[in-house]
Amino acid sequence: MNSNSKTVAVMVSGRGSNLKAILESVAKGECPVDVKLVISDRGDAAGLDIARKAGVPNVIHIDPKNFETREQFDTECAELLDRHGCQWIVLAGYMRILSSSFVRRFRGRIINIHPSLLPSFAGAKAVEDTLAYGVKVSGCTVHLVDEVLDGGSILAQSVIPVLDGDTRDSLHARIQIEEHKLYPATLARMANEGFEVIGRRVVWKSS
Ligand code: GAR
Repeated sequence: MNSNSKTVAVMVSGRGSNLKAILESVAKGECPVDVKLVISDRGDAAGLDIARKAGVPNVIHIDPKNFETREQFDTECAELLDRHGCQWIVLAGYMRILSSSFVRRFRGRIINIHPSLLPSFAGAKAVEDTLAYGVKVSGCTVHLVDEVLDGGSILAQSVIPVLDGDTRDSLHARIQIEEHKLYPATLARMANEGFEVIGRRVVWKSS
């Protein structure tokens, strides 16, 4: 790890392909972060296995069924994140909406990847909504998380064409190819350059 190295937690709910891309980039020395903790709200998330196989030191399933409220679940996660000294919280296919107390506690330190060009097609059905609307370009967005669903300041975006023959799965697969490059590259840029937020705009320190 170089001196810029940031301690990171990744939160997943499913396949974990973005987590895998981040871990591979870290292993290659391209992304100076230390993934210390992976949390999943689902015990069957493939992302848990990916994390264990990659040697992430703390890989934890927290079951929402054991908590009465979203706030209580999020507080448990928050305490874990603080206990492990996580500076950044990386949402990678984490499909739970975060409580506003969690967002306030980690304001400016939570990032998410979304499979559309925000602010178009926020929400859980981004790829279906993209196809249904008939736009000709799509892509993915890495953004800071605030209280508005998929509404925080934009750190980076990649654009791809929507093809006439696209289905939800084919379009999502091509978006994911971009996600797997953009997410590690954005994390690396955050670690290496830093940024400030002016109004809604993210301005990179080196620019
Ligand atoms: C990714 O495509 C990500 O953009 C999307 O879930 C997928 C997770 O894939 N996230 C959202 O839709 C959040 N609103 P992965 O588990 O293979 O990384």
